[in-house]
Formats: sequence, structure tokens, C-alpha cells
Amino acid sequence: MREEQHEAIARWERRWLAVAGVLLVVFVVFIAYSLALEGRHIAHATERGTPEELVQREPFARPGVVETEPGRYQVGVRAQAFSFTPADVRIPAGAETTFYLTSQDVLHGFQVQNTSINVELIPGDVSVFSYTFERPGRYRVTCNEYCGIGHQNMLGTITVLDPRDFERERQEAEAAAAEAGADGPEEASLALGREVYADNCAGCHQAEGEGVQGAFPPLAGHAVDLLSADGGRDYLVNVMLYGLEGQIEAEGVAYDGVMPAWGQLEDEEVAGVLNHVLTAWGNDERRPEGFEPYDADEIAPYRDESMTPQEVLEERRNLELAP
Ligand code: CUA
Repeated sequence: MREEQHEAIARWERRWLAVAGVLLVVFVVFIAYSLALEGRHIAHATERGTPEELVQREPFARPGVVETEPGRYQVGVRAQAFSFTPADVRIPAGAETTFYLTSQDVLHGFQVQNTSINVELIPGDVSVFSYTFERPGRYRVTCNEYCGIGHQNMLGTITVLDPRDFERERQEAEAAAAEAGADGPEEASLALGREVYADNCAGCHQAEGEGVQGAFPPLAGHAVDLLSADGGRDYLVNVMLYGLEGQIEAEGVAYDGVMPAWGQLEDEEVAGVLNHVLTAWGNDERRPEGFEPYDADEIAPYRDESMTPQEVLEERRNLELAP
């Protein structure tokens, strides 16, 4: 190569270096600008601990929405493969809401559709940010960090309600809880189960137990078929505690979603959610005669013999379901 050609190449290299240098400065200025003016939207870690410790602490021990002072709300969300708890966060429009998020197992993401919210959830770390949803509506929450084979099913919602509707829902829930307590242990278990279901299960199996075609089987109707099969009562506890992986069939349709293990729920909560599922959506009318609700004492022994999700799948395949 001739001397002048070398010179020309070197000149262009210097120009590109200068462009890259200018870009670097521009990026730093943008970051400094957004930190200074919108810093309150950037999540920061406030607390550290082992993931096991953190999920025992508030607000993760009882995740959900709490009014901290009039018109201000705090939301605790716990993420685990492959769901958010609560699956549906319900808050009023126009209220400043502070979110506390953590992951119980691996890295997850928390990205909220049509907003600037996009947070990484790190096990052992708490991510905090504040946001005010101005308009009522449903906002999809997706996990945008690949977290395992059920990652694509890791979905949640934030339901922003008109403040009057929010207040009405809150009063109805309080009244229902008071009533349930007065009606005895069975009603209390159902009320607890209804809550646990809304927080943990409705994201996949849906609010009316109708499931999602191809991914999550329906529980309306189908749960009673499982209960009625020989060994079905045991299977329902095991699938709650240990989860299930692999393809199944329900009412002639194949399902390929992943059922996470819910062993972190208390025995009363597992019993309650099973009772709720076996009662709601007309299931109470199809239950075998003499059905005894689950209680906490019945759940506890199942924890002694731990199973893998594949063993649970095997157990399900061995059930003889009525056609
Ligand atoms: Cu959680 Cu992807």
C-alpha cells in the first residue's frame, strides 16, 4: 500500500474516534440530566438480605396494597419463577404509589406496559420506585429477564381504578372478611382461599377459573374431576406444594404451561385455596357427595415427602379421570 493510502486510513480512524468520544460525552450528559430531573423514577436498592430473609419481612411476607397515609399507597410485590405475587395489583388512579419489589429465586424483570417502569428484580435486593398512575385501566406487567422454561408465562397486571370504585371494592372486601369470620372456620378458610387465589393463581388460571387455552388448564369443572378421581385428593395437595412440569391433557385439550411450586404458602393458605377452587364457579354443585373441606392439619404431612414436578406429572398421569 502506498504512503498516502495509509495516511487516508489513519485520518478516517481519527475522525471515527472523535465521533465516538463526542457520543460518550452526549450519553453522560443525558444520564446526568435524567438522574437530576427524573431520578425519582429510577429504582434503587434500599435493603439487602438473603432472599429467604427478605420474603419473611414486610412488605413481602404479606405482599399487596397498603394505604400508608391518606391518598398514598405502598405496594409490595414478590416475584418467583414464574409469577408475581400479587398477580393483579389494584390501586386507585391519581395516588402516589411506592412499589417495593424483590425476587425470591432468580433474576426477573418488572416492565409495565405504556409506562416508563422497567425494573430489574434481584434476589436479596429490594427495588423501590414511586409512580402515579393518572388514568384508570389495565396495565400488563411482563418479566423481561429470561428466568427459566416458564419465563414467557410470567405475566401480571396493574389495575388502576377510579378512586370511587377502589374505595367501594375495599369496603366490600372488609365486609366480606368480617362476615366470613362470623360464619365459622369453613367460611374463613374460603375467604382466605379467595384472597390467596386472587393474589397468586388468577394470573394464570384466570379470575373465573377458565384457564388459558394451551397453557393453563381450567379449574372450573376440571378441578372437581381431579378431586373425584382415585387419589385425586392427594394429587391436588401435591400439585400445590410441588408444582408440575410437562404436557398434560384436560377435557381433551393439551396444556403446556408450568405450575410453580407453592410450598411457601402456609398450610391454612394451601387448604383455603383448594377449598375456594373446589367451591367457586359452580364447582360446589359438582363435588362428590360428603366432600370434606381441606384443613391445615391435612396439608402438613404432605410436606414430609418432597416430590419433583416430574413426579407430580407422573401422579397426574396415573389418575383415572372420568372421560
Ligand atoms: Cu421471570 Cu422471566
